[in-house]
Amino acid sequence: MSKVIAVFGSARRHGNTGKFIDWIAQELDINVVDLSTKNISSYDYDHKNIEDDFIPLVRQLLKYKKIIFATPVYWYGPSVPMKTFIDRTSDFLDVPSLKDIGRELRQKTAYVVCTSISDDADSSFINAFKDTFEYLGITYGGYVHANCHDGYQQNHYRSDVEDFIRLINDEL
Ligand SMILES: Cc1cc2nc3c(=O)[nH]c(=O)nc-3n(C[C@H](O)[C@H](O)[C@H](O)COP(=O)(O)O)c2cc1C
Repeated sequence: MSKVIAVFGSARRHGNTGKFIDWIAQELDINVVDLSTKNISSYDYDHKNIEDDFIPLVRQLLKYKKIIFATPVYWYGPSVPMKTFIDRTSDFLDVPSLKDIGRELRQKTAYVVCTSISDDADSSFINAFKDTFEYLGITYGGYVHANCHDGYQQNHYRSDVEDFIRLINDEL
């Protein structure tokens, strides 16, 4: 089994971020989980949604050493499905029976794959991921960004993607 998996969230499956992560996933020979195919509801203080698809998905992710989070930049932050996923990690901090999941996450390394219409991902966007990973005890591995200001232009990202793939493979 591959040691890497990607979790993807965007308002469209085959847009810029979808194409970008599919290319990277093909290079790495890994699977991409599209959050829009899952029933994951927003964070609930009462955890009445604990039976939705979130916990089974995280248990699936725990089988991998490295997790790639793929999202466009929407208003300086991640897409709604990605933000919802991140918010739900609070379940591991709140619900005693889920604390083992929180502990297992501390053995993981996480990466960010993102697209926007800017030269680079805003530091606030990347830092939100970095800080969240740090809070959860997950090692941050790095990110790759595609500037889609003039549309998705795969050739423009080739050397960044090669570096990113090397980064992931070197650490395997
Ligand atoms: C709702 C929305 C908000 C956006 N906010 C930003 C932003 O804050 N900074 C930026 O550079 N691009 C922004 N963009 C542009 C997208 O990040 C960019 O087009 C991205 O490649 C879209 O990926 P997608 O095809 O997966 O949706 C925004 C686009 C949308 C639709």
